Amino acid sequence: MANRTELATLLCIPLFSLLLLDVVAGNFTGPHQIRLRCGGTSTAIDSDGRTWEGDANSKLALDGLAANASYLDPLLPSPVPYMTARIFSSNFTYWFGLNPGRVFLRLYFYPTEYADRAAADALFSVTAGILVLLNDFNPSQVAHAMGRTYLILEYSVNVPSGDLDVTFSLSPHHTGSYAFVNGIEVVSTPDIFTKPAPTFLNVGISDPFPISVNIGLQTMYRLNVGGETISPKDDSEFCRTWGKDSPYISGDSGLNFFKDDTVTISYPRTMPSYIAPVGLYETARSMGLKGYINLRYNLTWILPIDAGFHYLLRLYFCEIQHPITKANQRTFFVYINNQTAQKMDVIVLSGGIGVPIYTNYIVGPIGYGQTDLRVALHPDVETNPEFVDAILNGLEVFKLQDVNKSNLAGMNPIPWRHRDGDPRLATIGGAIFVLVVLLIASLSMYIINIRKKRVDHGNTNKELLLATLLSKKSNLCHQFTFLQIQEATSNFDEAFLLGKGGFGNVYKGELDHGMKVAIKRGDPLSQQGINEFQTEIEMLSKLRHRHLVSLIGYCEDENEMILVYDYMENGTLQEHLYGSQKPPLPWKQRLEICIGAALGLHYLHTGAKQTIIHRDVKSTNILLDGKWVAKVSDFGLSKVSTDKDKTYVSTVVKGSFGYLDPEYFRRQKLTKKSDVFSFGVLLFEVLCARPVINPELPEEQVSLRDWALSCRKKGILSEIIDPHLQGEITPQCFRKFTETAEQCVADYSMNRPSMGDVLWNLEVALQLQESAEENCEETALNVLSSPLTTRLQPSSRSTMSISGQKAVFSEMMHPDGR
Ligand SMILES: *[C@@H]1O[C@H](CO)[C@@H](O)[C@H](O)[C@H]1NC(C)=O
Ligand SMILES: *[C@@H]1O[C@H](CO)[C@@H](O)[C@H](O)[C@H]1NC(C)=O
Ligand SMILES: *[C@@H]1O[C@H](CO)[C@@H](O)[C@H](O)[C@H]1NC(C)=O
Ligand SMILES: *[C@@H]1O[C@H](CO)[C@@H](O)[C@H](O)[C@H]1NC(C)=O
Ligand SMILES: *[C@@H]1O[C@H](CO)[C@@H](O)[C@H](O)[C@H]1NC(C)=O
Ligand SMILES: *[C@@H]1O[C@H](CO)[C@@H](O)[C@H](O)[C@H]1NC(C)=O
Repeated sequence: MANRTELATLLCIPLFSLLLLDVVAGNFTGPHQIRLRCGGTSTAIDSDGRTWEGDANSKLALDGLAANASYLDPLLPSPVPYMTARIFSSNFTYWFGLNPGRVFLRLYFYPTEYADRAAADALFSVTAGILVLLNDFNPSQVAHAMGRTYLILEYSVNVPSGDLDVTFSLSPHHTGSYAFVNGIEVVSTPDIFTKPAPTFLNVGISDPFPISVNIGLQTMYRLNVGGETISPKDDSEFCRTWGKDSPYISGDSGLNFFKDDTVTISYPRTMPSYIAPVGLYETARSMGLKGYINLRYNLTWILPIDAGFHYLLRLYFCEIQHPITKANQRTFFVYINNQTAQKMDVIVLSGGIGVPIYTNYIVGPIGYGQTDLRVALHPDVETNPEFVDAILNGLEVFKLQDVNKSNLAGMNPIPWRHRDGDPRLATIGGAIFVLVVLLIASLSMYIINIRKKRVDHGNTNKELLLATLLSKKSNLCHQFTFLQIQEATSNFDEAFLLGKGGFGNVYKGELDHGMKVAIKRGDPLSQQGINEFQTEIEMLSKLRHRHLVSLIGYCEDENEMILVYDYMENGTLQEHLYGSQKPPLPWKQRLEICIGAALGLHYLHTGAKQTIIHRDVKSTNILLDGKWVAKVSDFGLSKVSTDKDKTYVSTVVKGSFGYLDPEYFRRQKLTKKSDVFSFGVLLFEVLCARPVINPELPEEQVSLRDWALSCRKKGILSEIIDPHLQGEITPQCFRKFTETAEQCVADYSMNRPSMGDVLWNLEVALQLQESAEENCEETALNVLSSPLTTRLQPSSRSTMSISGQKAVFSEMMHPDGR
């Protein structure tokens, strides 16, 4: 171990006052909660309100390089601790001085470029004492394989000496490898695994696996079954996250429900309350209202894991609705990996309604590489129970350390595109548990944080001279010969023409290796064309984002100005709204396209090294690929500002009529809010499916923006929307969407939201649309069940109706009893 830095003294002292730890003459007797934002210089608070100490606060010489992330991904739950990192070019150990005992150790990784080190070169191992946690680990590969922006890895280790060494060592298998980490969290816990002496049921293993007090575990899944995400602040003792279980359900997902108002969760004396938070027991999932359907299927969760390890499964149960208070009302089987693990009657095991219990199972190593753990429930009707059903409230899966090798590290995951089968399962990946965070929650936190941070400073405007950068352009992206371009387009055959724009004609082409491209050929006579050509190359060759169109290369042979882009199968957004014979897009898809475009613009405004103002946001510049992913295109008019805090660029007014920000027009000052204005007009265009300027209409209707605003004021906006959308938009979603569009097109830029806020509002609108649709299905379900159900409808909407189920069940048992 090359370096060892003693952080404990330094970190715990500022923290204890915050966390009300008991301190006895410098020794901690209470629980430790230590949070380090690696590479950070100051204390900062994350979106959950937790305090993170900068590891660079230390007066001790810290090895490694403090670095800032090059890009703030909108999907990060909070900038803290992800936006700073410590980068190691040699082995390094963090030492934590703790009370002897068990801790949760959480490692936070945000794979992106730091200090010009490529994400692909981060290859390292991590150990806690002698226990190997990660081996030849490349965070970016793992995150990609799982479709994640960031990773939170959680381990539970026992530290009998109180000395916790967390060592990062570089992989010897890759030259130029480095290590990094964004955050380290240490939360001490009682021994929640071997005390209070739970029974471990072995499933499919002949030799009992020893669970010693010293065993190390990795959390693979922690799910609030039937409920929403429980965030660390609602599990304050150990700051655990309990994710949603729905992504892991295979087949029929049964019915999720909430406890009766009259039921209180009361822990039995034998079970400490910290084992799991109350919120976990307040929701559950059952099989459904109809017993005869329940008999036909298994309620199944499929959880990808690493083969070759033993796993500990914890299942949490609690009856929380009134019909079930006695034994033999709901009895069922728990199957793990197709084997009967237990026959379950929750009331018998717990002693009553509202009393939580949990069960523990050990499963042996199965399969090779990455494999699946199956947990299934099925009604047990042998004893003739009252309800043919099953219930589960929570589920945890822990990987158990390989005792002889002191190892927890699995194999690196295989990226989803190389895996067969269900892509959904492949994306969640097997190797590592990642806390499931709702996109919407992440966005809200993130935006709140930006709001706090972003202060617009005064006017330090200076137009950036692009020309100085252009000399370097030839090594920025591929340069094609004119011959290659001619071949790709059959010498600019009319049959290949996709469209005509201000800059010139756009052709569809095919490169010699078969790749489809869009080729934009500029008018060689236009002076403006030259500038736009250069701006576009300059901008796009440096920007890479899922929601920006990619520039593949260019050609400037023989005075040509030709740009070569990724081909966008589905063309422009506009042609799917009006003016063509294309089928109308459904509302949810329109919303998703707006969100994609907003993500692209938000990235331009805040994510790249420089702030970029697009200046020509319109429906013909939003392109759609083969999977309907929206991509912002046409950067010919874009402006860069190197200073992120600079509020405006003074410039000659350019842009497209109908989308143009009136303030920019009046004051000739371009701000990010000018793009927001245009985007707002685009939102109305998506809603109403008509051109933003239509001179043929009566005067008050010519400008879509003005017409929409006046209709909205009169409360008749819903009358001018695209007739194809009639009845499709839920009222809540409509309200949110139109409110957002109205704010965007405010006269004064200071009244307009930022692109980040717009993004958030659109996400909310989508959420409102989706939840309303789901409720509809639920209602439909209730309607389908027997008439008794309707009569005995429970009071709370989200409560399931068990009574109805009983009726159906007795019908099934006594077919002629009707
Ligand atoms: C603090 O801990 C040290 C080492 O664990 C021990 O020697 C010392 O007696 C403790 N002090 C108090 C006041 O408990
Ligand atoms: C990271 O960003 C912070 C705040 O913007 C700045 O103070 C610090 O110097 C930056 N660190 C590095 C290594 O660039
Ligand atoms: C770093 O740690 C690895 C693994 O423990 C070891 O193989 C390597 O020799 C160490 N490198 C140095 C420079 O100490
Ligand atoms: C369990 O059964 C399912 C479906 O019958 C099958 O696909 C799966 O491979 C089985 N799993 C094991 C571990 O036997
Ligand atoms: C439920 O799972 C068990 C164990 O894998 C299996 O034996 C049974 O056939 C399954 N039942 C249904 C209806 O799929
Ligand atoms: C671990 O080592 C013990 C004793 O050395 C041995 O009995 C046991 O089989 C080993 N376990 C494994 C999984 O190799």
